[in-house]
Amino acid sequence: MPKHTNSLHNQNQEKEKRADELIIANKELAFQNEEKEKRADELAIANENIVSQLQNIQALQKIDRAILGSQDLDLTLHVVLEQAKSELKVDAAAILLLSPYSQILEFAAGIGFRSKSIEHSRLRLGEGIGGHTELEEAIVSVTNLAENSTEFAHTSLLANEGFVTYFRAPIIFKGEVRGVLEVFHRLPFTPDQDWLNFLEILAGQAAIAVDSATNLTKLQNANRELFNAYDSTLEGWSRALDLRDNETEGHSQRVTEMTIKLAKMAGVNEAELVHVRRGALLHDIGKMGIPDNILLKPDKLSEEEWIIMRKHPFFAFKLLSPIAYLRPALDIPYCHHEKWDGSGYPRGLKGEQIPLAARLFAVVDIWDALRSDRPYRKSWTAEKVIGYIKSLSGTHLEPSSVELFMKMISEDEIDVN
Ligand code: C2E
Ligand code: SIN
Ligand code: SIN
Ligand code: FE
Ligand code: FE
Repeated sequence: MPKHTNSLHNQNQEKEKRADELIIANKELAFQNEEKEKRADELAIANENIVSQLQNIQALQKIDRAILGSQDLDLTLHVVLEQAKSELKVDAAAILLLSPYSQILEFAAGIGFRSKSIEHSRLRLGEGIGGHTELEEAIVSVTNLAENSTEFAHTSLLANEGFVTYFRAPIIFKGEVRGVLEVFHRLPFTPDQDWLNFLEILAGQAAIAVDSATNLTKLQNANRELFNAYDSTLEGWSRALDLRDNETEGHSQRVTEMTIKLAKMAGVNEAELVHVRRGALLHDIGKMGIPDNILLKPDKLSEEEWIIMRKHPFFAFKLLSPIAYLRPALDIPYCHHEKWDGSGYPRGLKGEQIPLAARLFAVVDIWDALRSDRPYRKSWTAEKVIGYIKSLSGTHLEPSSVELFMKMISEDEIDVN
């Protein structure tokens, strides 16, 4: 072979070798690129997961805040549903709660429905999706509602809502089923494990919301019942006191109504009125400590008897102040015989040292006492009592209270005969 041919052959061989090397290098590069892309994809997925988990956490925080911050179960359940709708990306969601008496699941809250028919849903336990005879502790799903509609309990809903998939998670608290969280899609949908987990977590949040609201309602009802029972007891006491004091039927109730009216006119707030009411009902409870021979004496009291009689507001203080529930109601029983000019009893308080409720009550007390018969005198006419009360203004009684009282009886035309 000529020398130059030989060298050409060598050159060709070299080129082929380089080309092979280039191909290998290219392949490696392509592989590296693929790897990079794969890693980038993985990173993107990881990022998405982190973002969606963050959103889930934020959703749960919103629900926690709603549970802690609100005493209104409807409102809290609505927050749960809003989060279910946005985080699970469903078209509609509802919470049905188990009525403890009927064992029927009744609509409690809904979001995303086109019609109101969901609000009438009543699911009997056992009437679930085909084959499910009880609410078990697992998610139930129907992924083709059109085909399964005969087995689906909400058949009436389907007609106008156009749902395709249905998922339901039981709301369980301390091992007891309290209801269900239902979510609906109008397009086909296949959930992943994260989605199913979050549906369960939301059902758990609903369980906490229901439980805390139930406890609060129970507590409020118990409190209300207790207070109602107390107030009925007070009315009973107050009638018993009237009987012993030779009072006319309904006297305590009457002075109480008038005092409440006067206090409202004077701008006393609702919370205070509760105590004014209790205080007025019990204004003379201290007379329980006055012996019959003095209290029921058909004649004027002697000086010694007066000393004992004037103790009745102090007896009221001794009797009521140990009762926390009645301590704020003490103003009237303790201070209703104080006088504006400081000459009253038991402490000789003067002017605004006397609690407002007691200043107002003193006018009503004198009015009603003098309008009634007593064993030691006949009742006075309205004009005579009005004239008498006006004459006490500025000495025995607070002028503005007297004025307000006169306004009240002229407006009401209270039995002026
Ligand atoms: P009460 O009968 O409930 O009377 C409440 C207040 O209405 C009296 O407070 C007084 O300010 C006025 N009041 C009642 N009746 C008369 C009256 O006939 N004339 C005049 N000017 N004011 C009258 P007070 O005076 O501190 O009396 C407290 C309680 O002492 C009375 O409650 C009543 O239970 C008893 N009391 C007062 N006077 C007599 C009396 O002469 N005989 C007897 N047995 N008890 C009397
Ligand atoms: C009365 O006059 O019967 C008792 C009331 C009072 O002394 O002011
Ligand atoms: C009372 O102190 O019993 C009220 C006065 C009355 O109306 O008899
Ligand atoms: Fe009194
Ligand atoms: Fe009275």
